[in-house]
Amino acid sequence: MAKLTILEFPDPRLRNKAVPITQFDQRLQTLIDDMFETMYEAPGIGLAATQVNVHEQLLILDVSEGKDQPMVFVNPEIIARDGEQVYQEGCLSVPGIYADVTRANQIRVKALNRKGEAFEIEADGLLAICIQHEMDHLAGKVFVDYLSPLKRDMVRKKLEKNRKFRAA
Ligand code: NI
Repeated sequence: MAKLTILEFPDPRLRNKAVPITQFDQRLQTLIDDMFETMYEAPGIGLAATQVNVHEQLLILDVSEGKDQPMVFVNPEIIARDGEQVYQEGCLSVPGIYADVTRANQIRVKALNRKGEAFEIEADGLLAICIQHEMDHLAGKVFVDYLSPLKRDMVRKKLEKNRKFRAA
């Protein structure tokens, strides 16, 4: 397994729209394993392929406390949504920044697993937030897009400053 490099906002590659996956081959299995290693090490609770510069419809997550419930969604689609919830989100592509985002409270998702088999799940709470956040990445969206232009600009400047500090 290998740790992958995570793209950081405002990298334009985070704006690419992911294409559906049709081949459930060894390449995909290796990518999924590498993404889990990258996510657990970060540490984070979700990662979209977009964030590791692979523009295909794949996201992984693990919202469990024991970090022992890995979930894989290939070509995910939200087929029903209900209610609203606000949660202070963060993102491995926007390090150190947290902001309130409003999303659906309950969703029903249709996807394929890592073998290409179809499944459907109902999700609410943190799991629902995480799925919606990662699906945004696949559509070329980042959670700071929900902030006002002024706030988003402040985030961009803060990240630039942090990066300079890290490089120094
Ligand atoms: Ni994210």
